[in-house]
Amino acid sequence: MKINENEITPQELFENRRKFIKLGAASVVATSSLMELMAKENLPISNLTYKKDINPNNLELNTFEQITSYNNFYEFTTSKTEVKYMAHTLVTNPWTIEVDGSVEKPFTIDIQDIIKKYSLEERIYRFRCVEAWAMVVPWIGFELGKFIKDCKPLSGAKYVRFETKYDDDMFPDQARGVFASIKNYPYVEGLRMDEAMNPLTILSVGLYGKTLENQNGAPLRLVVPWKYGFKSIKSIAKITFTKDEPLNTWQDIASREYGFYANVNPKVDHPRWSQKRERVLGKLFKQKTLMFNGYEKEVAHMYKDMDLRKYF
Ligand code: MTE
Repeated sequence: MKINENEITPQELFENRRKFIKLGAASVVATSSLMELMAKENLPISNLTYKKDINPNNLELNTFEQITSYNNFYEFTTSKTEVKYMAHTLVTNPWTIEVDGSVEKPFTIDIQDIIKKYSLEERIYRFRCVEAWAMVVPWIGFELGKFIKDCKPLSGAKYVRFETKYDDDMFPDQARGVFASIKNYPYVEGLRMDEAMNPLTILSVGLYGKTLENQNGAPLRLVVPWKYGFKSIKSIAKITFTKDEPLNTWQDIASREYGFYANVNPKVDHPRWSQKRERVLGKLFKQKTLMFNGYEKEVAHMYKDMDLRKYF
């Protein structure tokens, strides 16, 4: 099922894009009018080199403003609209990522070396939070599978475990100790090896052409578009290859409500709310939730023998 593009983007942005296309067709796009349109849509100045996504399903993007102003990042606060005002305490330069566990040789790599090493591409994906809000994001990143091959995992590596940085100078909620909203920091997520190797799974370093804003998980975050947003762990500092299924943060907090798999599924409700419909940021009316968030063709085979009510 395809989502109608008018369902997703606010009408004003849709109109702006039409104007933009018309201007382009007439070859009269003076730099100033381009700048004006960019300013109107609040687009950031691009600082990454990447291959554009041809956007074959014509997904209509949420605005940069929407994507960077409504966030879940508990290390700062549980208020979605406050995160962007608090996130300046996150220092992402220098930043290293440690790789260990079942690999030939554990190593540490600098984020700048990662950006240089992997060719970046844009991936325009639907993003669906378990709380039933959704958006469409033009991520910039590279396939996690490519990174995993370079980590040289051993045959015993069946899962990949990710950890957000632990630093209570940077993250005020971590500093709150027993009063924190999440008791067991750092935030942890995990994927089964085939999920991690799926070509849709990316490590993202940017969006809308620019390096990630702190509130979106700078400098490196996971994006798994067919799973609920909590799987997309932010500000990754450690990647560990494991034999056993990792205990992810939300399962640790409430195992009856959040599982390990967290595949978007309109037929399996959250114990406290329905997952049949979702609200796209900026839209008044809800739309139907798609199985695997619309990526069924690419991912359903990985779960064909599994009862998705049990493995939720
Ligand atoms: N990663 C960390 N470290 N801390 C968090 O609180 N929230 C998750 C996920 N990654 C979270 C996290 C949840 S619940 C969602 S919906 C997405 O980040 C939100 O991503 P966004 O703010 O970029 O939309």
